[in-house]
Amino acid sequence: MNLNYHIPVPFLWPTEEELVYANEKIVPVAEDSAKNLFERLGPKFDKTYIDQALVSEWGTGKRMKEHIAELGLLFKNFSVFVGAPGARSSKPHVDGAGLGHAMVARLNVPLRGIKGSRLSWWKTGAEDPRILERHFEEWNARTKQWQRGFSYLSDPEAEWEDPDWSIDEPGPCWNRTEKSHRLDLNNTTEIRINITAELMQPVPWPNLIEKLQAKGYC
Ligand SMILES: [Fe+2]
Repeated sequence: MNLNYHIPVPFLWPTEEELVYANEKIVPVAEDSAKNLFERLGPKFDKTYIDQALVSEWGTGKRMKEHIAELGLLFKNFSVFVGAPGARSSKPHVDGAGLGHAMVARLNVPLRGIKGSRLSWWKTGAEDPRILERHFEEWNARTKQWQRGFSYLSDPEAEWEDPDWSIDEPGPCWNRTEKSHRLDLNNTTEIRINITAELMQPVPWPNLIEKLQAKGYC
């Protein structure tokens, strides 16, 4: 474990009962979004919309919201990340939180495509001259329309040294998304589906660590 980047939250692994619900209600919707995305943009990894009620009524989703509340933080919404099996983003990125802002942290619960996945971090974030603003379109499964999105990506010409830290096959966790990071799916064999919760107000990473330590999570 490296508290600078990644904090496992193993109690958020879905239970057997929660997995039944996820497989029936969430996975098919996420796979549909994934197929739309890959058809239009090729095999890749990206965030897509999911109906909030679908996740809020899921036991794990409820527990994710309770966890955020017990830390004294404000939940904003759920999204789903989908990734094509074997996709490898060769360069790191920083997550966006609205135009010109990095997202400090995310609470993630992966559902599919865990085996073979690897997450890596570098020490720098959006201030790194190799990190550029990224404007893109994202599929909104509710409105069935493409909408504007904002994030950061690496300058395609930039050279990156080896990552500062990596973890293989991460489970439920807090990830520090304001630091340059990269998800490698080149050893995965199924569509990656990762449920992510975003916060209403950014929490500085050291404060998040303090809150988690105060509750005995790390
Ligand atoms: Fe990210």
